[in-house]
Amino acid sequence: MSVHNSPQAVTIKTLAKLKAAGEKFSCLTAYDYCSAYATSKAGVEVILVGDSLGMVIQGHDSSLPVTIQDIAYHIRCVRRGNVGSMIMADMPFMSYYSEDVSLKNAAVLMSEGAHIVKLEGGAWLAESTHLLSERGIPVCAHMGLTPQSVNHLGGYSVQGRDPDAAQTMVTEALTLQEAGASVLLLECVPEDLGQRITKALRIPVIGIGAGAKTDGQIMVWHDMMGLWPGRPAKFVKNFLRDTDGDIQAALKLYVEQVRDGSFPGPEHSYE
Ligand code: KIV
Repeated sequence: MSVHNSPQAVTIKTLAKLKAAGEKFSCLTAYDYCSAYATSKAGVEVILVGDSLGMVIQGHDSSLPVTIQDIAYHIRCVRRGNVGSMIMADMPFMSYYSEDVSLKNAAVLMSEGAHIVKLEGGAWLAESTHLLSERGIPVCAHMGLTPQSVNHLGGYSVQGRDPDAAQTMVTEALTLQEAGASVLLLECVPEDLGQRITKALRIPVIGIGAGAKTDGQIMVWHDMMGLWPGRPAKFVKNFLRDTDGDIQAALKLYVEQVRDGSFPGPEHSYE
């Protein structure tokens, strides 16, 4: 039986088994009851309550204004609609600047119903990652393009293009794995770097704009449904257009195309 067909709720063990079996899995953001219900019913393994809500829900021009209370509120909404997916909570900007602060804020999100928290950054997060995972809070490390650092990066651009930066990313990903991270999320990196990091790590790697070779894929709900009014990024696919406006069918199509490897295609990936 495929790991996908298990009737049990998805946990970090499920993702590890999927990686070991070479089966791809899908992840999607959701911020409210109905979208969480539809997403989990469609078989999406991981629902991310992402700080992208700062843009797609609140209308800000970045994720920086999002607070821990905002994420906690949306976790409560999503939790009521979820039927078996793993709920990942984003730790918002400046909610994990020190180990103590990260533990305090991660505990709030876990108490609201998250199953894992996501922190943006590299090796500097090793101590916090270790502390949280030792205290029973699974961690997803978010590397590559880290939107909370948009001002430091100077824009939303592909990361790890030059060989030194790519090597640093591999090394730092290994450091976070050793520190106790259960999952890694890679955003906007060339496809070959996505593949290299996925092969180097024993933990599951989720990609967005990281090519087709990562263990899982993630998208933002509003991108997948063609709702974002701005110009879509290269890695975005509007699944609703392919299903004549049927939301449940669009979600199922996304799940199928991630599983069979047809999404993302070369047109959604960076060389
Ligand atoms: O906040 C978010 O939606 C994210 C995704 C872009 C992965 O972090």
